[in-house]
Amino acid sequence: MASLMYNTNIRATDGSIQLGGCPASELAASYGTPLLVLDTDVLDQQIEAFLTIARPFGIEVAYAGKALLLTALARHLSMRGLALDCCSLGEIVTAEAAGYPPELISLHGCAKTTEELQAVVAGRVGRSIVDNFDELVRLAALARSERPVAVVLRVNTGIEAHTHECVRTGGDNTKFGFALSDVDRAIAFIQAEPALRLQGLHAHIGSQIIDADPFVLNLDVLMELYVRAHHGGFLHGHDLILGGGFGVPMHPDEEHERMDIPRLCQALAQRAQQLAEQAGVPVPHLGIEPGRAIIAEAGTSLYRVSAVKQQGKRRFVIVDGGMTDNPRPALYQSYHHPFLASRVSSAAGQLMTVCGRTCENDELVQAELPRDLATGDLLALGVTGAYTYSMASNYNRFSRPAVIFAGQGEHRLVARRETPDELLRYDV
Ligand SMILES: Cc1ncc(COP(=O)(O)O)c(C=O)c1O
Repeated sequence: MASLMYNTNIRATDGSIQLGGCPASELAASYGTPLLVLDTDVLDQQIEAFLTIARPFGIEVAYAGKALLLTALARHLSMRGLALDCCSLGEIVTAEAAGYPPELISLHGCAKTTEELQAVVAGRVGRSIVDNFDELVRLAALARSERPVAVVLRVNTGIEAHTHECVRTGGDNTKFGFALSDVDRAIAFIQAEPALRLQGLHAHIGSQIIDADPFVLNLDVLMELYVRAHHGGFLHGHDLILGGGFGVPMHPDEEHERMDIPRLCQALAQRAQQLAEQAGVPVPHLGIEPGRAIIAEAGTSLYRVSAVKQQGKRRFVIVDGGMTDNPRPALYQSYHHPFLASRVSSAAGQLMTVCGRTCENDELVQAELPRDLATGDLLALGVTGAYTYSMASNYNRFSRPAVIFAGQGEHRLVARRETPDELLRYDV
């Protein structure tokens, strides 16, 4: 497999930090900090790996835009032939600005707005993943006066998986999708509604999953429903979408904390074929929706150290960003590995707490860093491509950071830093 190791491009032979072949100090000097650097060499390796593995099995790969979506990134993905999952009008508009073909876009969301449903009916996306009965009723009402739309039923298969666990939840632990007990009624509703065409079924089971087995369990449940729907003559398509949630290592020494994508794709394709043949139904078109596994490792956040201080036993390193550009440590206790990025240090390591500059405790990470780390140094946090910028906020009226592409030794701006004046633009 064109498998990706934890961004090994990061460290140059002299020990300094390079991103996409560009010295981190040069990037920080050119664009300021905090800065999200997307290494397009790493991104392209990851896209290529997914496509080469999945395509021979006939599995569609759709990038989950919620992980990170910017016009330049959408253009980049579209040029490489990935489908795209959107979950808001904002993501659809971004995809459109990038010239994404509508037929490659799916719309997710458990509480779609009228404008989002109108976008579906207007054909701005290829299919809508419907989440609940209220949505079905509203979508049908809109579609009746326009044209029939393709829908995929999101099912709560009762399987919930995270990095180190997989449980059958009985469906109680999540708000998403139709309960198994409601699926027949939902399909009957669609069948009775000429404006809606059932294109297939969908289930997403969690995040940062490194074991393929829960995906196969999930497939088994979906296949049972698919076979029933096929025998009932309810299906206008054969899509079976198994969600995203493939784990990536967050620490350079934990390469094993990664979903084995070749094994996953093979297991899913074989199982789907076997069950379809047994039931005498067409083999479904499988789909997966990786977000994190495509973009996370391409991302590195660069911060300038603003202050270093000792409080009791703890040594605090305060940087010029924080939970506003990366809320993941605060939300999920996520680990992002820190590196000194502006120089090579031979000083011994010391446990330090890296904090952001917001009016919260705002701890980003605790880790060993060189004892001589000082104000003015550049600090990098690794694997920050997914769910950081896309979750960024203006808390404390901080500006959102700039985002750049760096690859093959060249770099360019893809989202400019917000200015303080721009923070006033919605005030009336
Ligand atoms: C329906 C759906 N698909 C795909 C994803 C992407 O997950 P990940 O970025 O972990 O691959 C999510 C994440 O929440 C999701 O809800």
